[in-house]
Amino acid sequence: MKQKLPLLLIASFFVFTLSAQQGFTHQQSTGYVTPSDEKVLQKLDQWQDLKFGVLFHWGLYSVPGIVESWSICSEDVDWIPRDSTISYTDYKKWYWGLKDQFNPQAFDPDQWADVMEKAGMKYAIFTTKHHDGFNMFDTKESDFSIANGPFKDHPKADVARFVFESFRRKNFMVGAYFSKPDWHSQYYWWDYYATPNRHVNYQIERHPHRWEKFKEFTFNQLNEITSLYGALDILWLDGGWVAPPRQDIDMDRIAKRVRQNQPGILIVDRTIKGIYENYQTPERSVPDKQLPNPWESCIPLSNDWGWVPNAPYKSAQKVINTLIEITAKGGCLLLGVGPTAEGLIEQPVIDRLENVGAWLQVNGEGIYNTRITSHYNSGNLWFTAHKDGKTLYALYALPENEQLPAVIEWEGNTPAKNSSMRLLQNNKKLKWQTKGNKTTVYLPKNIKQEPIVLTFTLQ
Ligand code: GLC
Repeated sequence: MKQKLPLLLIASFFVFTLSAQQGFTHQQSTGYVTPSDEKVLQKLDQWQDLKFGVLFHWGLYSVPGIVESWSICSEDVDWIPRDSTISYTDYKKWYWGLKDQFNPQAFDPDQWADVMEKAGMKYAIFTTKHHDGFNMFDTKESDFSIANGPFKDHPKADVARFVFESFRRKNFMVGAYFSKPDWHSQYYWWDYYATPNRHVNYQIERHPHRWEKFKEFTFNQLNEITSLYGALDILWLDGGWVAPPRQDIDMDRIAKRVRQNQPGILIVDRTIKGIYENYQTPERSVPDKQLPNPWESCIPLSNDWGWVPNAPYKSAQKVINTLIEITAKGGCLLLGVGPTAEGLIEQPVIDRLENVGAWLQVNGEGIYNTRITSHYNSGNLWFTAHKDGKTLYALYALPENEQLPAVIEWEGNTPAKNSSMRLLQNNKKLKWQTKGNKTTVYLPKNIKQEPIVLTFTLQ
């Protein structure tokens, strides 16, 4: 009880402040370099068929339900809430101590995989280590891990392994999120100095040996993840500020080893334009226009990446509309979900995702395996194309609290004369006509008020 009280106070403080926060968002890189490795290109193409995946954030921060890692970073910005009644030093101590409380006895990665499969997702990325440096896999490089605390005797203590396995069994592509910065490592945030911001807290030029150790540590961990945890499709490297010229971790060496271990693996060195950013990752946003290169928007289902109490989850319809827009612009949607500290996906998430999945079950033909088409948008209407290049999909992203119109019209993308047009929702033929460049479609009355997909053959 004695121990619980301060925690409760802290927790209520966070609940109060969390509503205002958005979080740090990585900017999108300014360009794209097409990889030359055939296997990578092939995997990229397969990955671009999937369209919809999940990004799990699970770690120490899930225990009190606060912003992922960032509260231990002493930057003075609104979105980093912290208990204001204790000092920064005491706060960090408390945070590191969460490792003794994180005991997810209900951990059930099969439940996670069931929920995401029913949601219509096709790939899953899991936080093996976030910025706080707490390892969600049984690393030999550090004691600071889930496999070392109260959860150590659980048969699934090597958590990442079991997450990957559950998703592989469902034929998902699987990926490891890994934070390049590590705020627990003495080679990154050295206790000898203060930790005023997210960066390495010593002068690398003055302590080159320490930085060498950090490079070695990072290399070894990525070697472990890619050699001991089965087949991986994606290595998603976060923390784009760890990059040359100042914080050079030798990506050439890392990538070489990682690809020896996992031929063809997609490396996503976020925001670092170059051969190790195999796709771009705009965060919490959708690019204004189609991008000619592979990309993925990562957007949390709530405001936070990890689990927080009473999260303001987006509706299924919002997720569907976002997925439609992203697909028409040529990207994939990576939706952020935070499992609870007990190790489960909570019911409000399941409810929303079930509805997304039910919609995809009926309408997924206009999403999965599609490619972009040059005329791709007019108002709420978005277009995608079948790989055959002839079949087109018109997806109407119905805004929340609006009704479908009786008539849908567009210019260009003219259907072939006498061909039929179908509404995927009920698989029935639609009445339509063209005049010059303009197509008019008459929607039947009494169809379900939700985003809809029409399909037809191009002229
Ligand atoms: C940003 C945040 C990080 C989060 C990531 C997810 O990089 O710093 O905390 O994990 O976005 O996209």
